[in-house]
Amino acid sequence: MDVHVADHPLIAHKLTYLRDKRTDSPTFRRLAEELVTLLAYEATRDVRVEPFEIETPVSPTTGIKLSNPKPIIVPILRAGLGMLDGMVKLLPSAEVGFLGMIRNEETLEVSTYANRLPDDLTGRQVFILDPMLATGGTLVMAIDYLTAKGARDITAVCLLAAPEGIKHLEDELADSDIPVKVVLGTIDEKLNEKGYIVPGLGDAGDRLYG
Ligand code: PRP
Repeated sequence: MDVHVADHPLIAHKLTYLRDKRTDSPTFRRLAEELVTLLAYEATRDVRVEPFEIETPVSPTTGIKLSNPKPIIVPILRAGLGMLDGMVKLLPSAEVGFLGMIRNEETLEVSTYANRLPDDLTGRQVFILDPMLATGGTLVMAIDYLTAKGARDITAVCLLAAPEGIKHLEDELADSDIPVKVVLGTIDEKLNEKGYIVPGLGDAGDRLYG
């Protein structure tokens, strides 16, 4: 597993306002969208492209364009929806699939309540969006789900992560030959006894959608 943590003052600046409990939902949504746009720069570094012939007003030249099949973006409902618009702005031709997952607040067990994805993800580049990587249970289950459909090229984009969640993900993927990349806004201090990231930002779904 390849973990990339963004190290950029604009990302740190926007994360600070995102964390602040005084930040209202409209501002929170705007910041989440802006942050994913910045993280997408790194997340799409290996997006598949192919040569493309064009003519400028001056001369012919060879550029590049996204290869087919186009990437698929998978926000994890609910909170991942808050990152979708930002990602789609950068990859407007990408397909979008949905996974609805909920973490039981008491047991922290994850269950899947909705999915809308192509049956076959063989050969597709997949970008998972979820603001929080806490225990890692949600991301592990999402990756299992996508690999069972044939995905072999998976990048997860998360705004915040706890070290415990990254470790869990690394342990789960230790014997896997599937290259998973995780792009993070930052790594926080720890998880608390309720499974919340500390200092974190609270419940991202609630802060986005109430
Ligand atoms: C939150 C968050 C992640 C998940 C992370 O979702 O948005 O999806 O928990 O936790 P984990 O790493 O411990 O699995 P939640 O289950 O609260 O659902 P929501 O997005 O609908 O609020």
